[in-house]
Amino acid sequence: MGISMKWLVAGVLGAAAFGAQAQVNQIKVWAAACANCHGTNGRAEPGMESLAGKDKDEMLQKLLDFKSGRKPATLMHQLSKGYTDEQLAQISGYFASQKK
Ligand code: HEC
Repeated sequence: MGISMKWLVAGVLGAAAFGAQAQVNQIKVWAAACANCHGTNGRAEPGMESLAGKDKDEMLQKLLDFKSGRKPATLMHQLSKGYTDEQLAQISGYFASQKK
């Protein structure tokens, strides 16, 4: 065997860590699309709904309700349709983890 097990394991772990980082970056890109209206990192200007530090499940439920049309909206029903339910869950998780 030319390659030692140690290097093989390091390679696999490295790839997993890289994948996780790419995933986080992708979620940040999605979340950046919300920043125009909801503020950088979800901290909005007065008068607009902040997303930072909100309950993840509540936020996701609102987004799913916008998407399905259950919750009437002027904008969010359109925007939420641009994401899969899984993506909305990840975006909600991201904003929920931001400081208020
Ligand atoms: C163009 C402006 C705009 C953008 C971009 C935008 N929103 Fe909104 N958002 C609104 C408005 C306006 C409302 C109030 C509901 C409505 O009329 O659509 C709202 C409401 C919400 C609510 C409900 C807040 C509450 O507690 O009642 C959530 C959650 C939300 N947005 C999440 C997001 C997420 C996540 C993104 C990015 C994927 C996003 N928004 C992008 C304008 C925007």
